[in-house]
This record gives sequence, C-alpha cells and structure tokens, in this order.
Amino acid sequence: MVTNGSLQVLDFVGWALVEPGDTVYVEAPTYDRAITLFRRHRANVVGIPLHADGPDIEALEASLRRQPPKLFYVIVDFQNPSGATASLQKRRRLADLAEQHGFWLLEDAPYRPLRYRGEALPSLYELAPQRTLQLSSFTKQISPGVRVGYVVGDAAVLRRLAKVAEDTYITPNLIGQGIVYEFCRRGWLDPQLERLRALYGPRLEAVCEALRQELPQAEWVEPDGGFFVSVTLPAGVTSAALRQAASERGLVLSDGRGFFPTPAEGERFVRLPFCALTPEQLREGVRRLADALRAVTA
Ligand SMILES: Cc1ncc(COP(=O)(O)O)c(C=O)c1O
Repeated sequence: MVTNGSLQVLDFVGWALVEPGDTVYVEAPTYDRAITLFRRHRANVVGIPLHADGPDIEALEASLRRQPPKLFYVIVDFQNPSGATASLQKRRRLADLAEQHGFWLLEDAPYRPLRYRGEALPSLYELAPQRTLQLSSFTKQISPGVRVGYVVGDAAVLRRLAKVAEDTYITPNLIGQGIVYEFCRRGWLDPQLERLRALYGPRLEAVCEALRQELPQAEWVEPDGGFFVSVTLPAGVTSAALRQAASERGLVLSDGRGFFPTPAEGERFVRLPFCALTPEQLREGVRRLADALRAVTA
C-alpha cells in the first residue's frame, strides 16, 4: 500500500490494530514520533532496552511473560536514533517470538538502502512475512517533500489500513507518486542511492573519528549506515544543562529524553544526525559538544 510518507502508517496502524489500553513495544530508545503516535492511540507503550546488536532478548521475553503486546515497533537497520543494527540471530529470534506469541512486528526500514559498510542482513519481513508489516519511504532516498511512503504485509491488514487511509484523505498524493514513479522509471534511483552512500559514508567516518578523539568517555554504537549516531554521556549530566551549554556554543541538540518511553532514561543521551554536515562541520560540532560537556561537568 502506497501512502503519504511512512510516518502516517503508524497512525493508521493505531486506528486499525490498537485498542485503547493495548500494549505496544518499542525499542528504548526509539524514533520519538512513534512514541507520540502510539500514545495518541492510548496504547501502553513499553520500552525494550536496545543494545548494539538489537533489542535485549531476555528483557523482551520477561515483558512477554508479563504483558504481551499487540505489536512491536522496531527499526532493525541503522536505527533512529541509536544507529544500532540488529544481528541476524536477534532478527531470527524476533521472528520466532512474534510467531509464538502472536504479535505483529512493525518493521520501519527507511534507512535500509543506506548501508555504508558490511553486508545487508535479511529484513524481518523476509524472515517472518506473515507476522511483519514493513514500512519504508522515499523520504531518505529522493526527498521528504514528495511524501511518498509504503507498507508491505498481510493483505487483510492492508485492507483495514486502506479503509482508514481512504476515510482520512480520500486518495493519497498521486502527484507525488507520479514524481517518484517517473524518477524510478528513468533509472535514477540506483545511481541516486550510490551517490548518497558515497556522500554520507565519509561523514559517518568523520563523526566517529571526532567522537573517538574528543569524547572518549562517552559510549556509542558505531553505525554501519543510516543518518544517526548517538552518544550516552558520562554520569552527572542532565539534558537541560547540556542543551543550554551547547546552545551558548552555537550547537543545537535535541532532547534525548524524547526517544525513551521513560524519559529519565534519556537524560544523558544525545543524537547526532551526521548526514547534512560536511566532515569539517562534524568535527567542529563534536568539539563544541565536548566543550559543552566540560562546562556542565566542571
Ligand atoms: C524511523 C523513521 N520512520 C519514519 C520516518 C518518517 O518518514 P516519512 O517522511 O516517510 O513519513 C522517519 C523520518 O525521520 C524515521 O526516521
């Protein structure tokens, strides 16, 4: 089903599959707008801790024993915000658990084509097509402004989503779809993805190198692709103080607490989007972040 961007699919899923009071799992941290949308549908949003190789399976199993969910929203490739990629072993486990406990995997995969190193792993949709709804969009591949996304999965669920979509906007943005169709028909998509990987890969290298030099005391996952790397700063830092010190240095930081269903867990979490800046700007940004950190911990 082709949609106006992919974010609204989460809202449609909320209308079609989630009853008020239902439990929805997300990774902690996760894409902040997903938390907002599921809460708007009065879901009980439960965070499953995320590690460098994907969701914590023991914590997931413990939550499944307590409170099985309607669905688990996951970003297994170059996660927004952490940059983490789930291992093949964890992907298989997620597929098995979804089957065994009868919940949906809502796999959000907008960054999947933007891998800068290593080999692609099978998607959750490839591993468990009967249990997975996979979302993606052309936002990161062509432009956010075209507002063209899509969801792939079970036909009966898609019919329900299509009914919600029709009642919401009658028809999707066919002009945007026409632009994307023509872009693809002309064979421009693959060269465009090549160009983006060649542009963003060195930016990722630059930000990671700057972090190793300037913030060795921070913890982070080294991403293999996507748009984001995120750092967890040492104990004693608060998000508000850090953002204030950063803004005095001309550095705008998002509030790390927004990425966690339990906001206090994100007090020391800082997302660093690296794609829109040059390597030199990234090095300067990380220098300013390190300086702001020194100021708030002094
Ligand atoms: C993980 C994730 N899902 C969905 C979206 C929304 O994308 P779209 O523009 O397709 O609605 C974003 C955008 O940043 C994102 O990072």
